[in-house]
Amino acid sequence: MKDKIIEEYTPDYCHELEGMYGQGMMSEGGGPAIEHLLEKVDLNGLTALDIGCGLGGVCHYLNSKYDMKLYGIDINPWMIQEAKKRTPQVNFILSEDDGAIDLPSNHFDLIFSKGVLCHVEDKELLFREVARLLKPGGQFIVNDWIATAHGKWGPNVDRLMEIESLTVVAHSEDHYRKVLVKCGFTIPTVRDDTKLYRDWNQEIIDTLIANKGSREYIESYQALVKAFDEGECKVLQFNSEKLGV
Ligand SMILES: C[S@@+](CC[C@H](N)C(=O)[O-])C[C@H]1O[C@@H](n2cnc3c(N)ncnc32)[C@H](O)[C@@H]1O
Repeated sequence: MKDKIIEEYTPDYCHELEGMYGQGMMSEGGGPAIEHLLEKVDLNGLTALDIGCGLGGVCHYLNSKYDMKLYGIDINPWMIQEAKKRTPQVNFILSEDDGAIDLPSNHFDLIFSKGVLCHVEDKELLFREVARLLKPGGQFIVNDWIATAHGKWGPNVDRLMEIESLTVVAHSEDHYRKVLVKCGFTIPTVRDDTKLYRDWNQEIIDTLIANKGSREYIESYQALVKAFDEGECKVLQFNSEKLGV
């Protein structure tokens, strides 16, 4: 699965995404989405890890606004190289195995991930590693595309995957909850951000149409908005804490 995802995120595809989502970003919403993701956290002074940092846009934003010790990991060597070049103040590290991330135990106050885990098939392996890396009481915050029917998307997400040659795993809210609790986290609070993300994607469609952008991307984003409107896919945020003192 990892090799496939690395192949799918070619530099050209990343630049296309960045063009639509804003400098360094490969997921929706820019600064307002990052603030929304971490709004419940007092960020100054924290040691934090971004899982699936991509080109480092989220860490770049946080580094420019808050006094934090930031780390970012990703499986894609090219992206890690780019992220290091763009924001040398952040510790960007190549992650080769979800179950053995080369960082010390009980080290992080906060671990977060934005628009990434839908590419991760074995969530249990990764969540156990997140639990090892977090300090007891540390926070784990995940934003992701979630399937309404576990194990399968509907025609709209299937179409998006076909157009963008992108693999996205259909895991349900219930699956996330169960795996988090099994791996030593508190029962998560879950926030539904679908409407917000739907509107950000609609803005991208409007901009692409106004600028006579790629027909394929317009169709792909229209499929995503339809998937949100028809309840096939949701954008949820899970806020959980590592149990223990
Ligand atoms: C849609 S991009 C989001 C990037 C970034 N979070 C952002 O918001 O700009 C998904 C990212 O997840 C990374 N990724 C996929 N599977 C991963 C895994 N198992 N561990 C770490 N990163 C992963 C990809 O390489 C890609 O950079």
